[in-house]
Formats: sequence, structure tokens, C-alpha cells
Amino acid sequence: MCDYNKKTNRRTFVLSGWAVIKVGAIFAFFYPVVQFVKFYIPPKPRFVRVEKRLLIGDVHLDPDFILFVGEKSAWAVSRKCTHLGCRLNFNQEQKLLVCPCHNSQFTPEGLRVAGPAKDDLARYVVEPLAENKGFMVTL
Ligand code: FES
Repeated sequence: MCDYNKKTNRRTFVLSGWAVIKVGAIFAFFYPVVQFVKFYIPPKPRFVRVEKRLLIGDVHLDPDFILFVGEKSAWAVSRKCTHLGCRLNFNQEQKLLVCPCHNSQFTPEGLRVAGPAKDDLARYVVEPLAENKGFMVTL
């Protein structure tokens, strides 16, 4: 009777240890795989020179961004709609960026106003070039 309980306890102990080893082996195998799959290399920043003399209130359209020049600063927002990625146009009269695909609308600051897009537009860093020769936009 006592011998049977000892065997059972030893067997239970060995089996539970084997289960721990199996779980550890599965984790050791899949952890590098998961790390590899979610490995992400951020894109290198791209610098775009806008060598144009822009005045306050001017708007510069680039294929990837729209540059606005305000009284105190200049800023740029992405032209890629946050809904499905269509290229936005700027409506001068409404002062809105409008998506030609599903009519999402954004303010010049990139804030979503209407439409199926849920997120605001990406904003980019803009620095003035020396001697007022234009702007450098970092995408
Ligand atoms: S892609 Fe712009 S609203 Fe759908």
C-alpha cells in the first residue's frame, strides 16, 4: 500500500516534470520564430528640399505631402488618406484636404473632419532652409 503511493507520487512527479520540459521546449522553439515574424526595421527618414520661396498662406503640393506656411511656422502633413491610402487633394475654397476616393476630409493641420477615415494625417517635421531659400521636410 505504502509502496504503491510512493510509485504513484514518483510517477506523477516525473510526468509533471516532463510536461514542464515540453512546455519549455515549445517556448524555446517558438520564441525566436515570433521574434523573427514581428521584427520591424523602421524606414530611414527621407529629406525633401522644397527650394521655393513661399509666402505666408502659401501651400506647396508634393506627391507625398502638403506643405503649409503659416505666420509663425510651416508644417507639412501626409497626402496619404488614413482610410485606404488614396492621395488627398487640397481644396483652397474650403481650406480642407479632401480624399477623392471616399470623400474623407481633413483640416490643413491633418485633423480628421469627416468621412470613413478614422485617424488623423501624419505630420512631418519642417525646417526652414538658410537664407529663406525654402524648407526641408523630413518624412
Ligand atoms: S481612401 Fe480616403 S476616404 Fe477612403
